[in-house]
Amino acid sequence: MLKRTALSLMMIGMTIPAFAQDRTWRNDVKPIVEAKCIECHGAQALEYNEWELLGDAKEKVAPRMDTYPHFMSYVVWPATGAMMRRLDDGKTSGKPGNMYQYLGDNDTDRAKNFQTIKGWLGEGAWNLNRWQERKGVPGITKEQLDKIQAKY
Ligand code: HEC
Repeated sequence: MLKRTALSLMMIGMTIPAFAQDRTWRNDVKPIVEAKCIECHGAQALEYNEWELLGDAKEKVAPRMDTYPHFMSYVVWPATGAMMRRLDDGKTSGKPGNMYQYLGDNDTDRAKNFQTIKGWLGEGAWNLNRWQERKGVPGITKEQLDKIQAKY
C-alpha cells in the first residue's frame, strides 16, 4: 500500500509541468540568451550605461545582457521594463516588441521561449511600465516589483 502511494506520487510528479519558481537563469533562461541574443548582446557589447550615452547611434548597436545582473538591469533598474517591452508577444498590446522575433526561428519556438522567460520572471511580473510615468503610462509600483522571482 505504502509502496503504491509512493509510486503514484512519483507519477504525478512526472506529469506536473515545472512551476515558475523551479525555473532558473542557469538552466532555463541563460541557454535561450546564449542561443538567441548574445550574437548582438554578448560580452563584447557595450555596457548599458555606455550605450545610453550614444544618443541616436543607439539604434545600430546592442547593449550587453549576457549575465544575470546585466539581464536583470533591463527588468528592474535602470532600464525598468525594457526586457518586457522588447520581448512582449503583443497578445495584449497588439504589437510584439521588436526583439520578440529573435526568440526563435518559427512561431512555436518563439512562443515557447517567450513563455519560459515570462514564467521564470514570475506570476504577475511581466509589466511593461518604466521606472517613471511616461505618456500616461504609470511608473512601476513596489507591488509589481514584488512579483519578480527570477531565480538565479
Ligand atoms: C541581430 C542583433 C540582435 C539580436 C539577435 C538581438 N538584439 Fe536586442 N537589440 C539589438 C539592437 C541593435 C538594439 C538597440 C536598438 C533598439 O533599441 O532596438 C537592441 C535592443 C534591445 C533591448 C532594449 C534595451 C533598452 O534598454 O532599451 C532589449 C531589452 C533587447 N534588445 C533584448 C534582446 C533579447 C532578449 C534578445 C534575444 C532574444 C535580443 N535582444 C536579440 C540587436 C539585437
